[in-house]
Amino acid sequence: MQEFRLIQVADLHLGAGQEHHLDNWRKVLAWVAREQPALAVVNGDLVMSDPDSETDHAFARAEVDRIGIPCRFLPGNHDIGDNVLFGKMAKRVNAERMARFLRHYGEDRWSFSAAGWGFVGFNAQLFGSGGLAAEAEQWAWIEHSLAALACKPVALFTHKPLFLDHPGEADHEDLSLRQSCLDAASRARLLGLAHAHGVRLISSGHKHQTRTFSLEGIYHFWCPSTACVNGAPSALHWGMREVGFIDYRFRADGSFEHRIVGADFLFRHENYIRKLVNGE
Ligand SMILES: [Fe+2]
Ligand SMILES: [Fe+2]
Repeated sequence: MQEFRLIQVADLHLGAGQEHHLDNWRKVLAWVAREQPALAVVNGDLVMSDPDSETDHAFARAEVDRIGIPCRFLPGNHDIGDNVLFGKMAKRVNAERMARFLRHYGEDRWSFSAAGWGFVGFNAQLFGSGGLAAEAEQWAWIEHSLAALACKPVALFTHKPLFLDHPGEADHEDLSLRQSCLDAASRARLLGLAHAHGVRLISSGHKHQTRTFSLEGIYHFWCPSTACVNGAPSALHWGMREVGFIDYRFRADGSFEHRIVGADFLFRHENYIRKLVNGE
């Protein structure tokens, strides 16, 4: 295989009986039916809001199944709880919520090869989990997976970005900022592994913003949400307030291309307006 075309969709935020963003997801499905990429990485926040809503998980899974191409799943904070306790997401990641995700989607991490590339996706919610055994187990799995892909260029996928401004930044005092990215210790460990094992790009979601930059030989991608943008226009943003998804093409010569797709044909739903109207 000379070229492997993969899309990343993130932050679908689908809910049973809640139609806020379903129009956009159906447009994504129509695009996929036309373009026929080989695979979709579904990079977290599949459900609307509550990680404990069985009906929302069942609804999201059924909607994703309409896509008609193979999918690989990763969890977000709205799917299995957050690793940092703060007001908006008081539900923390735990074994029960992880088991629910596995029941609905079958996996929360994966590794595979295609077109001479290695692809590794893992559970961002476990970083800084406060000592869950699953966190240590995942670190061992990441190290093993990257070692097994020796000599291949590698693309990493995880729900949260590694940092906001700088890889050396301290954990933020403001918890709403702290939950935006990985904790400093996990980030340093992951970047050390990435540099040692030929990682070429790290693709995340979570912020509902579009951002692409390179640093020390690694491209960082913030994939927009397919559903909505978050925060008022006056709120602090690091990337563009856009909706959409990423269309990647990985080639056997080690090169890759990307396009940010959908800002021109998805509705840029403004989540903060709906929340203001509903008093949330
Ligand atoms: Fe999200
Ligand atoms: Fe998220």
